[in-house]
Amino acid sequence: MTVSQSAAHRAGQLRTLLNRANHAYHVLNSPAMPDAEYDDLFRELQQLEAKHPDLRTPDSPTARVGAPPSSEFEEVVHPVPMLSLSNVFDEEGLRNWHRRAMEYAEAESAEMVCELKIDGLAIALTYQDGLLTRAATRGDGQRGEDVTANVRTIRSAPLRLNGKNVPPVVELRGEVFFPLSAFDAYNREREDAGLPLYVNPRNSASGSLRQLDSSETAKRPLDMFLYSIGYAEGADLPPTHLEALDLIKAWGGKVNPWTRLATSVDDVLDAVQDASDARGGLDYGIDGVVIKINGLALQRRLGYVGRDPRWATAFKFPAEQARTVLTAIHINVGRTGALTPWAELEPVVVGGVTVRRATLHNRDEIERKDFRVGDSVIIQRAGDVIPQVVEVAEDNLRGPDSTPYIFPDRCPVCHEPALALEDDAVVRCVNAECPAQFERLLEHFASRGAMDIEGLGERLAQDLSRGGIVSSLGDLYSLAAHSRQLLDWDGMGEKKVANLLAAIERSKEQSLTRLLFGLGIYGVGSEGAEWLARRFRTVDGLTDATVEELEAVDGVGPVTAAAVHKWFHLDSNRQLIAGLKDAGLSMVDDSPAPPADHAMRGLTLVVTGKLQTLSRPEAESRIKALGGKTSSSVSRKTAYLVAGEEPGSKLERAHSLGVPVIDEETFLRFIDGAEPEAVPG
Ligand code: IVH
Repeated sequence: MTVSQSAAHRAGQLRTLLNRANHAYHVLNSPAMPDAEYDDLFRELQQLEAKHPDLRTPDSPTARVGAPPSSEFEEVVHPVPMLSLSNVFDEEGLRNWHRRAMEYAEAESAEMVCELKIDGLAIALTYQDGLLTRAATRGDGQRGEDVTANVRTIRSAPLRLNGKNVPPVVELRGEVFFPLSAFDAYNREREDAGLPLYVNPRNSASGSLRQLDSSETAKRPLDMFLYSIGYAEGADLPPTHLEALDLIKAWGGKVNPWTRLATSVDDVLDAVQDASDARGGLDYGIDGVVIKINGLALQRRLGYVGRDPRWATAFKFPAEQARTVLTAIHINVGRTGALTPWAELEPVVVGGVTVRRATLHNRDEIERKDFRVGDSVIIQRAGDVIPQVVEVAEDNLRGPDSTPYIFPDRCPVCHEPALALEDDAVVRCVNAECPAQFERLLEHFASRGAMDIEGLGERLAQDLSRGGIVSSLGDLYSLAAHSRQLLDWDGMGEKKVANLLAAIERSKEQSLTRLLFGLGIYGVGSEGAEWLARRFRTVDGLTDATVEELEAVDGVGPVTAAAVHKWFHLDSNRQLIAGLKDAGLSMVDDSPAPPADHAMRGLTLVVTGKLQTLSRPEAESRIKALGGKTSSSVSRKTAYLVAGEEPGSKLERAHSLGVPVIDEETFLRFIDGAEPEAVPG
């Protein structure tokens, strides 16, 4: 062997030894070698790599100390979106979720897996040929940030997957967290160093993972649990979620040891009780139990409703409460003019978090509960929900100068009269020119789910509006003319201004869906915007739509339809649209147009039972893409019932109504353009 060959050999040996020791220590919690020995071997490898830089590999344990700092995180588009979970808070909610899932699956029961819901932040790890090549945060679910260098510093994150059946490409998903035992000590150090404190372990996990200098991240004791396979290429996945977890473990990933298999809602309730009992003894925060259908094929069939899977839900632990003093009541003006009262509080720790403000909901709530400044109150906080003031403490003592709170009858920002319409609990500022509303609208328009103008957040929206530079959404697109003025502002360097202008320019290409959502029309959320965009395809199509046409759109109710109609008939809004058009916004639907002549166009189909080649949601989206409609129940208006295996009661109903029934093969040919021969039901 030459010198460099033997060096390469030794480096390989050391990497294997160290990675094994690391796995034993950080993943299995059973150390395999004394710390001193680990340190010696580690140093030996570092020296070898220093002498022979070509021996460095991305899976070397020395890669865990951090890479050179970067100036920003690259954006990562998730090949499979990282979605959220619906929540349930009690037995009834759980039973409803279960019933809906079983109805959709047309099954009596199904195996479920219960897992702890780790209170950290979601991460997706991509492995190519076993090697960790990318780690991304969840971001908005579609796009996250590339934090690979930082994740490499987490000892329990496998840099390489070992063992059999590692797919050529596989994405593992999990949760990064900051251990509770380290949190307080860590904050004390920050305090000593004069740094701002983290409010809770989750924020500190997030802050640590988003350090631009990964050697900073390396100093924090972050840990992780993996809880699913996001996707895999070139390999078959096991049939169940539990087996997928076993596979992740076998590859070297750290999976939370607490899982419970359940076959009934009662089993799940037992598991939730168990988890709640175990909570106090854990070194990481949990905020509930995640319940997932075990069968992966069934998961796929159940699919998603909006952003939440039907095949899983989170049972959230009850809110934690605390007592404190309400020191002031303030009013916030929202995008739709709603005046929302909030309480300033004497800081109090609830569930590991310091709470300084909490919502008071609305005027009626304050009146009903008679909240007054100076009262001792009970507040509560549950997970991500904004903390709320629940009630005045039973033994609250009021002084002689305590008076009931008087809700303002004018907008605190524009000082125009504020009104509550009919018996609406919400008092609104109805001044269309109110700067507060416009600022919120501007912020919403620029937000990630809408036009995605990076750098335009709450603060800048306020400055642009109050500085008189932007007083209509259209003004954004002539912002370049004001760049000199912007440069004079505090904190707005050349680079920031240039980036902002570039982001505004890029936003012109955004789809009609995002634009519609961004306009903040009453009742139009991101999903409603998508339905509208798909149906009308252009902004002109929408402008011309009648209330009836709008109401006929799936997912658009009469209230929203009326609001959209009214919005497009206001002169000021028409001017806004014309301005945006002039500015060069594309404003078209980006989903492919349904072919004009497809036989499915305008027909309503119902899909039932198990299909072999498509999930039901897929089948339904194919129907919609061809201009057809879908429904969940069979009626006289149903053109065809597409029946897969075990079609259940819908088949009988179709027979009794004389609705034609087609099988999967005929359906697929129908998609390809061959209209089925009349099949008597
Ligand atoms: S499964 C389709 N399992 O909770 C979503 N999520 O609200 C599937 N989380 O962002 C997620 N522990 O980061 C799953 N055992 C667990 C989890 C878990 C924590 C987080 C996850 C996600 C959020 C969903």
